Amino acid sequence: MSKPFYITTPIYYPSGKYHIGTAYTEVLCDMLKRYHKLHGEDSFMLTGTDEHGQKIQNKAIEAGITPKEYVDKQAEEAKKLWSLMKIDYDKYMRTTDDYHEKVVQDIFERFLKQGDIYLGEYEGWYCEPCESYWTETQLVDGMCPDCNREVKKMKEEAYFFNMKKYADRLLKYYDEHPNFIKPDYRKTEVVNNFIKPGLEDLCVTRTSFDWGVKVKSNPKHVVYVWLDALTNYITALGYGQENTELFDKYWPANIHLVGKDIARFHLIYWPIFLMALDLPIPETIYVHNFIVMKDGKMSKSKGNTIYPEQLIDKYGLDATKYYLLREMPTSGDEVFTPEDFVGRYNSDLCNDLGNLLNRTISMINKYFDGIVPDYKGHINPVDKELEEFITESVKNNADYIEKFEFASSIQAIWDLISRTNKYVDETEPWVLAKEEDITKLESSMNHLAMSLRAIAILIRPFMKDTSDNILRQLGLNTEVTFKDLDIIKEFNNIKVIDKGEPIFLRLDADEEIAYIKELMK
Ligand code: ME8
Ligand code: MG
Repeated sequence: MSKPFYITTPIYYPSGKYHIGTAYTEVLCDMLKRYHKLHGEDSFMLTGTDEHGQKIQNKAIEAGITPKEYVDKQAEEAKKLWSLMKIDYDKYMRTTDDYHEKVVQDIFERFLKQGDIYLGEYEGWYCEPCESYWTETQLVDGMCPDCNREVKKMKEEAYFFNMKKYADRLLKYYDEHPNFIKPDYRKTEVVNNFIKPGLEDLCVTRTSFDWGVKVKSNPKHVVYVWLDALTNYITALGYGQENTELFDKYWPANIHLVGKDIARFHLIYWPIFLMALDLPIPETIYVHNFIVMKDGKMSKSKGNTIYPEQLIDKYGLDATKYYLLREMPTSGDEVFTPEDFVGRYNSDLCNDLGNLLNRTISMINKYFDGIVPDYKGHINPVDKELEEFITESVKNNADYIEKFEFASSIQAIWDLISRTNKYVDETEPWVLAKEEDITKLESSMNHLAMSLRAIAILIRPFMKDTSDNILRQLGLNTEVTFKDLDIIKEFNNIKVIDKGEPIFLRLDADEEIAYIKELMK
């Protein structure tokens, strides 16, 4: 039995509405959590909000409420969105939770005592929105290299974490654990850009604001957000608290999912903090790319933002998740365009998947009064080939997930959908019916139902409602897991639905493209 599966999203800044880019991390995490759960693994997904820091404090002042009131409200909004998106998380973590603040204080004092943290003075270029200090050389054209906004020179008494002390150990760790950083090119990047030039000590406190966890032994300092934020992955499980049951069971994490903007913090500082705590390091940190617009980064000021609610409202949750997961490449950013969204909807969901189901249901009704014929072996010349293709697709889907190529894992399912559509053309059931070649016709219908059953199971981690719908139309139990792929040939007297309902209605492309463009303004 393998270790129970523990997967996390970053904890989000609750500083405004989440656009589809931010929601991507959550959707990917949810898919992987469900995938592992459907494979029979004990799985735990963590998400939450990162509620301290200057940025949040400023937002609260703007809104004329206290920071706590502000984050309470925002956390509720976030939970509403995740519930709309049917995110199957097991714990919602907030860094303002008492247990978390206490453990952060304890960790800080331990690091001080161990000599990992020392008091010094910090001067640097500070980017307020990113809450990051940058050195002169890191700036790009005098601007923040992460967000391209203005930075200001700041100087303050501050505590530092002695990162240098751990640099060699970290590099050795990377080398000995090829699955730690995924995709691989992110490792090269972080080594060349941050470690090779000389790892700088990290400033871990601030005195310039007070919305944060106070340093116990010197309370005019608050813990700087990254030491506070990163430790959420362990405090959420009970680390440093009375009840460590979850921590003992799930730590180390199997996978942390993070966007590329926060890769550095997770790939460098997080494993070093864990080394300093003498704790095991997560198996994998997967860095995903960004969803961007044709004119660059999504931003309210540019008026090119799209929110998940808007797409879900009009096109449904499954189509939204499908688009986000299917389009994100491993190697670069995903450019959101209304044309692609509507195109994928019409071709992949409506034509390829929707029509396959619809045709199959109506043929089984027409030729066999709705009863799925029993499996009889390889009757049509292509029966065996389709069966092998199903087996192969299940394997490909799993292999791609194993290799962290998530868009390809979905592509593998759509390859099966295409192959099955081709099977319809190859077996020509309407000809078999006319020629009264009943055995062949039975086998054709049986194989179509078989393939659709496999497809319904394979899409289940990210299109649960559609999966339920397909299974229901096929007359099958919706309580399925990947184990049921072993019995996809069994249809003892199963009766499909009398009249198939389209699972995706064809969109008028021009109209919908215009509609989405309007949303983006
Ligand atoms: O970074 N496309 O929180 P956050 C894809 N609090 N992903 C995107 C994106 C885009 N356009 N924009 C943002 C934080 N993201 C910290 C994390 S973890 C200990 C602390 C992703 O709300 C981003 O990369 O700014 C991150 O993974 C997530 O959204 C939350 O970002
Ligand atoms: Mg961010």
